[in-house]
Amino acid sequence: MTAEFDALRTHFPALRTRDDGRVPAYLDSACMSLVPQEVLDAMAEYYRDYPGCAGRSLHRFAEEVSHRFEAARETFAKFLEAPSPAGIVFVRNSTEAINVVGQGISWKRGDRVLVSDQEHNSNLILWQRLGPERGVRLDILRLRDDGTFDGDALETALAKGVRLVSLFHTSNLDGRSLPVREIAERAHDHGAQVLIDGCQAAPHRPIHLERDGIDFYAISAHKMLGPTGTGVLAGRPEALAELRPLVAGGETVEWSTLTEHKLRPPPYRFEAGLQNYAGVLGAAVGVDFLRRAGLEEVEAHDRALNARVTRGLEGESRIRRLGPADPANRPSVFAFAIDGVDPHDAALFLDEGHGVMVRSGRHCVHSWYAERSLDGNVRASFYLYTNTEDADRLLEGVRELLARVPSGSTGTSAATPARGGRSAPSRRRAAGSSRAAARSARPRGTTARGRAASGARSG
Ligand code: ALA
Repeated sequence: MTAEFDALRTHFPALRTRDDGRVPAYLDSACMSLVPQEVLDAMAEYYRDYPGCAGRSLHRFAEEVSHRFEAARETFAKFLEAPSPAGIVFVRNSTEAINVVGQGISWKRGDRVLVSDQEHNSNLILWQRLGPERGVRLDILRLRDDGTFDGDALETALAKGVRLVSLFHTSNLDGRSLPVREIAERAHDHGAQVLIDGCQAAPHRPIHLERDGIDFYAISAHKMLGPTGTGVLAGRPEALAELRPLVAGGETVEWSTLTEHKLRPPPYRFEAGLQNYAGVLGAAVGVDFLRRAGLEEVEAHDRALNARVTRGLEGESRIRRLGPADPANRPSVFAFAIDGVDPHDAALFLDEGHGVMVRSGRHCVHSWYAERSLDGNVRASFYLYTNTEDADRLLEGVRELLARVPSGSTGTSAATPARGGRSAPSRRRAAGSSRAAARSARPRGTTARGRAASGARSG
């Protein structure tokens, strides 16, 4: 870890020493990043100093927040290298951004949407729903397990006459990235538009929306140092102008009568009602923080940590890693299963025994696990505040778990195919033996906090 990045850790209040004398080893940034003090201050400042509503009243609070809200739009436009601030729409998260596009297109029956077989539910459920509701057909692009991209498979899919290609930029499941520039070029050659779910990419690497010709790009600020409930749909203003706004209401119109209205241009027509000003202003400060750190540097930092963890577990035959073999091709995510250990039990063990926080389960990509009859896995994700000690604590915890749970335990490891075609939940219930083994393997002095890894956290 570079000295500069190590120094950044002091900006994150969540990384203070806790009552148990330990600093949390937070390895769940793919779900939600930590928030620097500067972001917390910006949000408090709004409520403390100028708690007005933007774009409406003329008093000084309203003027201040209006000015800062538009400045936040410019911050995001620059950060994403978007064609114009007019193409930055503030939303709650990338899920909502995808919905603004999917529900806003004037679909014709038989139009096709192409997604990959590794999409988060945020980029799948909507398209499934549009089948029965609007007659939209859903095509699936199969990705290779080794992480390399199959341009021919994309060409074959596009040849069917796709209207929208909607793919992740970086996968929350295994950290691989797709070549979005090539995808956009190929899609445009076939007359399709491109929507990219960038929520796992924008926090970790430089984004070039205009250069790459992306029509729509969805991000969540809560994965890039910002608060929850804030995100952006970035789009070409002309592409946005073709969408029917998902939510109708105040601030979206030039004028209205009792029977009619005229919509404002993008982005305003999509931002109905009073906005999350504190959140958006905080999110922009998070983006400034990231820009100062340098996105190329963040990516290199993730890569180094991931290489350390990958190397550290290389010889362990019971560890099954997901995604590309080379950590350079999945810098922010190390996803793995341990033969004979239920992933939720492993996550509880790591947290309770080692203060290491990871995510376990199916990461809202249920479809990918269902296709392979797998239950889930453990995912460690890295960010600019992660240090080598965090990575080493993960390695230590995993090694201890391997030592304590005998190999050959019958379990529901993600790497273990389902037997007899039973559903994932029923296999989880049948997993008593491996769960008991992992629980009995908890280091002395730790107590289970009643967070039994029941199917409740199946996401
Ligand atoms: N999609 C987020 C994750 O992968 C929530 O954890």
